[in-house]
Amino acid sequence: MNNQFTIMDCNLIQLPKTRNVAGSSTLLQNGIEVPFEIKRVYYLYDVPGGESRGAHAHKNLHQLLIAASGSFDVTLDDGQSKKTITLSRPFIGLHIKPGIWRDITNFSSGVICLVLASELYNAEDYLRDYAEFLLFKKRDYSKNV
Ligand code: TYD
Repeated sequence: MNNQFTIMDCNLIQLPKTRNVAGSSTLLQNGIEVPFEIKRVYYLYDVPGGESRGAHAHKNLHQLLIAASGSFDVTLDDGQSKKTITLSRPFIGLHIKPGIWRDITNFSSGVICLVLASELYNAEDYLRDYAEFLLFKKRDYSKNV
């Protein structure tokens, strides 16, 4: 089970940026720039000022978060430690591993938060209760196999 990842395993990934007089672009490919197979893409936008998102963890899902436009803060929490990362560049991705609680705050106006995900949507994969998340982190799954 994917409950052993820590915030140290959640790294920033520099994405390729092509720039010319007509503007910039960033290309993302399965297993190359993105370190997992992408099964789902979604994006957050029209976020009202002062609103926050996230407040959950996933049991198995890998995600790459990108500030495609604007900026926001992501606080990562593995049950022992927390760190906050500001995303504000369309060519930097934050790889959030399974079993990491995330709170997303301080959205700038006009923000677009692009999310690449390793699995299709599955409500069962969410841990939305913080106490349940802490139990998930402490459980020894090796004894159940
Ligand atoms: P959630 O992942 O909790 O949003 P956020 O992290 O942005 O606050 O999802 C919000 C709602 O949208 C929730 O009811 C589940 C639904 N949803 C889908 O139906 N499909 C999806 O791919 C996603 C990401 C969410």
